Amino acid sequence: MRIEEFDALVVGAGLSGLRVGLGLSEGGWNVAVISKVYPVRSHSGAAQGGINAALKNTEAGKDDTPKRHAYDTVYGSDYIADQDAAMLLCEEAPKVVIELESMGTPFSRLESGLIAQRPFGGAGFPRTCYAGDRTGHALLHTLYEQGTRRGVKFFDEYFVIDLITVGESVAGLIALDLNSGELVIFRSELETVILATGGYGRVYDKSTNALINTGDGLGIAFRAGVPMQDCEFVQFHPTTLYGTNILITEGARGEGGFLFNTEGERFMKKYASKAMELAPRDIVARAIDTEKLEGRAFENEYVHLDLTHLGAERIKERLPGIREISMFFAGIDPIDEPIPVQPGQHYSMGGIASKYGGDFGETPLPGLYAIGEASCISVHGANRLGGNSLLETVVFGRYVSKQLLKKGIQRTLSTKDVKKAEELTLQKTEQLLDQWEKNDGKKPIEIKDAMGTTMNTLVGVFRTEEGLTKALNTIRHLQKDFLNVHVSTTDRKFNYGLQHTLELRNMLDIAEVTTYGALWRRESRGGHYRVDFPRRSDEEFLCHSLVYRSADGGLKLETKPVKLGIFEVKERVY
Ligand code: FUM
Repeated sequence: MRIEEFDALVVGAGLSGLRVGLGLSEGGWNVAVISKVYPVRSHSGAAQGGINAALKNTEAGKDDTPKRHAYDTVYGSDYIADQDAAMLLCEEAPKVVIELESMGTPFSRLESGLIAQRPFGGAGFPRTCYAGDRTGHALLHTLYEQGTRRGVKFFDEYFVIDLITVGESVAGLIALDLNSGELVIFRSELETVILATGGYGRVYDKSTNALINTGDGLGIAFRAGVPMQDCEFVQFHPTTLYGTNILITEGARGEGGFLFNTEGERFMKKYASKAMELAPRDIVARAIDTEKLEGRAFENEYVHLDLTHLGAERIKERLPGIREISMFFAGIDPIDEPIPVQPGQHYSMGGIASKYGGDFGETPLPGLYAIGEASCISVHGANRLGGNSLLETVVFGRYVSKQLLKKGIQRTLSTKDVKKAEELTLQKTEQLLDQWEKNDGKKPIEIKDAMGTTMNTLVGVFRTEEGLTKALNTIRHLQKDFLNVHVSTTDRKFNYGLQHTLELRNMLDIAEVTTYGALWRRESRGGHYRVDFPRRSDEEFLCHSLVYRSADGGLKLETKPVKLGIFEVKERVY
């Protein structure tokens, strides 16, 4: 067993983790960024379309403002976003985008040399800044380069298993070095751990998410008693490639792409007559699935995203990645033919409760912070607007680093207590891993597959009481199976079976929380659509859900008021 000691520990090396690590390191902290993958393989790199900021760079966007951006965000969220958080996000946006530009991000440009901006769903102005259709990739490389330059210490291919706590405070964490198979204790001198582990899309079997998106940070926090907030709100991206569910960016519709059904109809006119294909994602995803349910989908599965009228030059310049993906994975060149698309899980609006009374990013557990998709701060509410996710990562990564530096944190825990907690955690972890080797039950993949299909079919775009109840029972059954899960190889070096089991442990908890929240929320709002309760009910449900593990092993749910007061709550129509 090895011990590593730093001022602060960041878990996850996507954009949130890199940005907070960079900020703390610039402020003189000795920071470790711990990630189960090499940083530039983080899922932030898969974000295609762009990052929102009211820069006013285009003629069409000249009247845009941060307040108008915040309004679109809150309206798009179906009023579950906290309005103070949304304002902060949008006010900081121009600053962070210009900062990223000055760090070297190769943004696409207008003739004038200014950063180009494209229209995105639910946005009143074209405010999405982009680097072709590989924006996340460009940002990830920029921040990784900056972090390396500023002396952030990276621990790549380490799987964080659990937090180490002393009483009510965070002291560090325990991780598995995937390469050597050794358990490693990471100690935080300043009792600060920041979870930036991304989403949990792989709880669903049809997802745009990388296979690594298994909600590890959420599982870790949940086991430490931190509530999960608003997990019933899951985003289904309307345009994922039929067959593989790889993301086909909203930027394709932003550039002017049309959606057609089997009758050659631009069906969005029936669902959002003004915004059409650029209505928010929840609306477009439901429209596509309705076309399917009513028999107007190709092969009863997908609709067509047609870009052919955009012309070869524009597709090659603005959407090169989409063209490549369509050609490699579907044998279709979008210059000549429409792309077959269907909705797929894309994003988790909910996550670790990270504005519990304290500051943005703070969880109820002293010293534990969460940012990015792993967190629920909450800026996206019931439906996130495209281009706000990349923005959230850098705004709150930067914000939390600044707040931490300002606080002048001092160590409070005694070395004796910390060592005792470390030993105990180590013992428990060894026991857990040993047990998995001794068990003779199902393989992790069998449990995972059953969970993925259940979530997709019963906790998807359309939900019912009956389906959700069935899903919850199935997941609880799978959790029982998991108690006897079997890891077949005992060598811990690069043991993928072991890694997948650790991931599944986190995923099952979050699948249960998501389903439980969806069952409780008897209304339809944003990405959460209850066929049996098709109306939004502000009287009963204009509130956040907070789900905890209760002492009897079940779940309990509390509500928290939404921060209102800046924008009036009204009906959402596009
Ligand atoms: O469609 C997209 O390019 C995705 C962007 C986002 O999720 O923000």
